[in-house]
Amino acid sequence: MSLKDRADFGARLKDRETGGAVIAVIGPRIVGYVIVSWSGADEDQVRRLAPDVPLMFCLRVDERYRCRGIGTRLVQRAEALLAERGFDRVLIGVDHANERARRLYQALGYRTVDGLGRLGAEGESYEVMARATARA
Ligand SMILES: CC(C)(COP(=O)(O)OP(=O)(O)OC[C@H]1O[C@@H](n2cnc3c(N)ncnc32)[C@H](O)[C@@H]1OP(=O)(O)O)[C@@H](O)C(=O)NCCC(=O)NCCS
Repeated sequence: MSLKDRADFGARLKDRETGGAVIAVIGPRIVGYVIVSWSGADEDQVRRLAPDVPLMFCLRVDERYRCRGIGTRLVQRAEALLAERGFDRVLIGVDHANERARRLYQALGYRTVDGLGRLGAEGESYEVMARATARA
């Protein structure tokens, strides 16, 4: 994982007062992570259509360790963490250009939230997907 990734990871964790991270470790190496936040989304549109639903973001697996199920397990562990805290749903924002991530989320049962299929400004284009956690 590059230094930039680590800095970004740290900054995002620090930004969030109410959240946590799931980290994948192999030997001495951090090979992936995902962050969860239970303070909800920043976007008004998302807050209106999915109020008080926690978010999962910044999912990343080191390139050398991809396609081994680590991304899947990170998402599933993050869902379990949220279910333990009493949340029955989780949101993920995904770029339209990111086919791989969209495929992964779809395979895991995530579906586009009605009304949140096309968000973003200034060249950005993303959608919000949701799934029930094990608690639901
Ligand atoms: C998206 C991302 C997190 C996926 O991580 P990953 O560890 O490769 O995910 P998985 O291994 O669980 O699944 C990826 C693929 O590997 C396949 N796979 C899983 N376990 C496998 C195994 N043991 N053997 C072969 N293939 C396997 C999955 O079926 C999946 O196939 P698909 O690409 O056809 O859908 C990773 O590609 C990444 O970090 N991308 C850059 C950052 C990013 O885009 N993050 C998402 C932001 S929304």
